[in-house]
Amino acid sequence: MLVINSRPHEPSIAPGTTLLSVIRDQIGLKGAKEACARGECGACTVLVDGIPVMACITLAARVKGEVHTVEGLAEELRDLREAFADFGGFQCGFCTSGQLVRAAALLRAGLPEDRQEAEKTIRYEMSGNICRCTGYNGIVEAVWRTAEKRRSKAVP
Ligand code: FES
Ligand code: FES
Repeated sequence: MLVINSRPHEPSIAPGTTLLSVIRDQIGLKGAKEACARGECGACTVLVDGIPVMACITLAARVKGEVHTVEGLAEELRDLREAFADFGGFQCGFCTSGQLVRAAALLRAGLPEDRQEAEKTIRYEMSGNICRCTGYNGIVEAVWRTAEKRRSKAVP
């Protein structure tokens, strides 16, 4: 059994079946994308027990934790999605689901309050998520602004 976005599923898992193929082809969630299919681009990123993993190189049979895809994180990521739109975090959008999911984990962990340090952290932590379009500045800005916004809301 696989728990995906808080729902139990009983997919058919043959040897070699990847988590990505289960999510896309059996469950029908198309947010996680297949691009390189070899763990190099991050387009297929999902969370397993809160940890970002590349679903294209993760064997479904080995997944024991709860999986969250970009669809399951939609509400949590409302502010980040808006920031991506506001600050040019996407163009073609193919990498965006993976970027959002990776950033979700980063935002949960928290960023340094210093802007330069935060930028360094964002660029380092998200370096496994490749984008062919944006030049990354819009993505970094969107993640930073979201962290700032969340921080200001958390202050009583
Ligand atoms: S499609 Fe999975 S890392 Fe590129
Ligand atoms: S927005 Fe096109 S690949 Fe990232």
